[in-house]
Amino acid sequence: MKPKVWSGFGVLAQLGLLLVLAIVFPSRVHAAVSTRRLSEIARGRMLTFTCIGCHGLRGIEVTYPFYNVPKVAGQNRLYLFNALMDYRKNLRNFPTMRAQAQSMTVRDLRDIAAYFASLRNQVHPRTPLFNRSEAKAGAKMITTCAACHGLHGIAVAPEFPDLAGQYPSYLVRALKEYQTGLRKNAIMNSMAANLTHRDMVDIANYFASQKGPLGQIPKR
Ligand code: HEC
Ligand code: HEC
Repeated sequence: MKPKVWSGFGVLAQLGLLLVLAIVFPSRVHAAVSTRRLSEIARGRMLTFTCIGCHGLRGIEVTYPFYNVPKVAGQNRLYLFNALMDYRKNLRNFPTMRAQAQSMTVRDLRDIAAYFASLRNQVHPRTPLFNRSEAKAGAKMITTCAACHGLHGIAVAPEFPDLAGQYPSYLVRALKEYQTGLRKNAIMNSMAANLTHRDMVDIANYFASQKGPLGQIPKR
């Protein structure tokens, strides 16, 4: 009798242990991951005071050529990290951004990307000015683009940028730079190769007309 009671207890104990493992352990793992992400975000926030002058204000423009400073708050984390690394490696061209990215460590850039991406649900998106008839024409041309950037400009994977609600002038600028090879990315260099200026303007206005999570980084 006694051994049986013990073995019964053993089964219960094992079940109990499994339950404990199933409930406590994964939640611990989850907590550990999100704590790390939270500290990345906090550190990233500290590193981005100097960025507010350009990325914290609505409608700021760069001159020659004229285009709006892109919205980076709420953009996808992996895309942001890649973008910053590309400035660092000279695969992208804007001198101020190259200087910023080259003066920082890879860890800094990872944390900044985590901070900007964490603003995904905190900004109140307002679509920028766009041209309605151009947006309508652009809507018919984005079938290929939708495979990665989504039908409405919300990317299907975190390594692709959201385009919804981005400034049309910046999107045109980006497409031009891919076409001329000033900005280097194998996929996008070939995607932009055969677009005319008209196509770029129409497509840019279509994506700009869509609602998404992109916005300005908050002032503090
Ligand atoms: C002088 C204005 C200015 C300042 C200051 C500035 N940026 Fe930028 N940033 C720009 C412009 C303009 C672009 C687009 C350049 C291009 O065409 O590649 C850009 C692009 C970016 C991009 C890529 C966006 C995309 O959609 O691909 C990221 C990420 C970024 N900046 C982060 C930062 C961070 C982080 C800081 C501060 C450490 C910063 N920027 C400071 C003007 C600025
Ligand atoms: C196979 C996936 C794929 C397809 C299809 C694709 N893209 Fe992209 N797109 C990307 C990736 C990856 C990037 C980021 C490249 C980089 O780091 O410069 C990007 C970047 C961009 C950017 C720059 C955004 C920014 O914030 O700087 C624009 C604009 C863009 N794509 C427009 C288009 C358009 C228009 C089409 C259709 C003609 C298209 N893409 C098709 C994958 C794709």
